[in-house]
Amino acid sequence: MSIFYVDGVAFEASSGETVLDALLRQNYPANYSCRKGRCRSCLMKYVEGDLALLAQRGLEIEYKQEGLLFACQCIPSHGLTLQSVQSDSLFLSAPIVAKTRLSEHVVKLIVQVSGNKRFLAGQSVNIRQPDGVGRTFAIAKVSGDLLEFHVKRKRNGKFSDWLFYRACEGDQLLLQGPWGHCHYYPGMPEDTLVLIGEGTGLGAVAGIAEEALNKGHSGNIYLYHYGRNLDDLYQHKQLLQWMLMNRNFFYQACVGADSEKSQVDGKRVRLAEPIELVTGRHQFDRQFRVFICGEPKMVLRGQERVFLSGVPIERIHVLSFDYRELRKRPRTWG
Ligand code: FES
Repeated sequence: MSIFYVDGVAFEASSGETVLDALLRQNYPANYSCRKGRCRSCLMKYVEGDLALLAQRGLEIEYKQEGLLFACQCIPSHGLTLQSVQSDSLFLSAPIVAKTRLSEHVVKLIVQVSGNKRFLAGQSVNIRQPDGVGRTFAIAKVSGDLLEFHVKRKRNGKFSDWLFYRACEGDQLLLQGPWGHCHYYPGMPEDTLVLIGEGTGLGAVAGIAEEALNKGHSGNIYLYHYGRNLDDLYQHKQLLQWMLMNRNFFYQACVGADSEKSQVDGKRVRLAEPIELVTGRHQFDRQFRVFICGEPKMVLRGQERVFLSGVPIERIHVLSFDYRELRKRPRTWG
């Protein structure tokens, strides 16, 4: 057992227990979501004591320089001293500029950011609504200081309910990030790009494809969008148009086998899982770069299958939607 300190208060940690688990066990209202060192909602600030390397693994250099660490990955040494982090020091203000329905279940959200941070389509950010509830989202598009997101309404999802029914232009959101390596790499214009998006994972992969096309990418770009049914193919027409306008862009829609129709707007939609389709269709070599964005099961399976098909791991970029709503930290404690 070790004793560590947060904001001057002592906590006990059992052998192998993380700072986050120890805090939650002792009813400290810590922020957290993924518990995997990805969402960055559990960040705390190092003050003194021995710090295990794992506590900062995968964290951006600027966060490391500020002494931030993942509470969910940090096994505390005896005497480790930490500080909680105020939202204001991590989050930027981001007003809503526009909100548009893309389908019955998907909203396009555009927010404005200030400052000199660089955002790229395919990266992740945390967004909080004014009362503190938030989620992690993939950036679908960057236009100057405007960021676009595609948000699916979740059953009983506090954030998505608020966004669909109550959020208005001008509402102030808080935004933390960006991070992640799932974005376009402009130095390699001849790469063959294979992009697989499940559900609103389409936003990120279509954003990467658009970035590639805008930058004059010369290699072929294959985009696969998977939805459980035809209603999930919320940008089908637009992507068919991209295919007509760009000789190196190819789009394939896939829907679950239980979907009733296989024709949309006169174009065939495959009744197939995208991973099987992709690995069966492409002869992968070292010039391929693969992007996969969607639910964790599909992303993990896709990563494994594509790697076993010959794509080097450093050329497979994934963004997995394995986040719960970012926990809202109650104001009263201690
Ligand atoms: S990074 Fe720690 S909870 Fe997500």
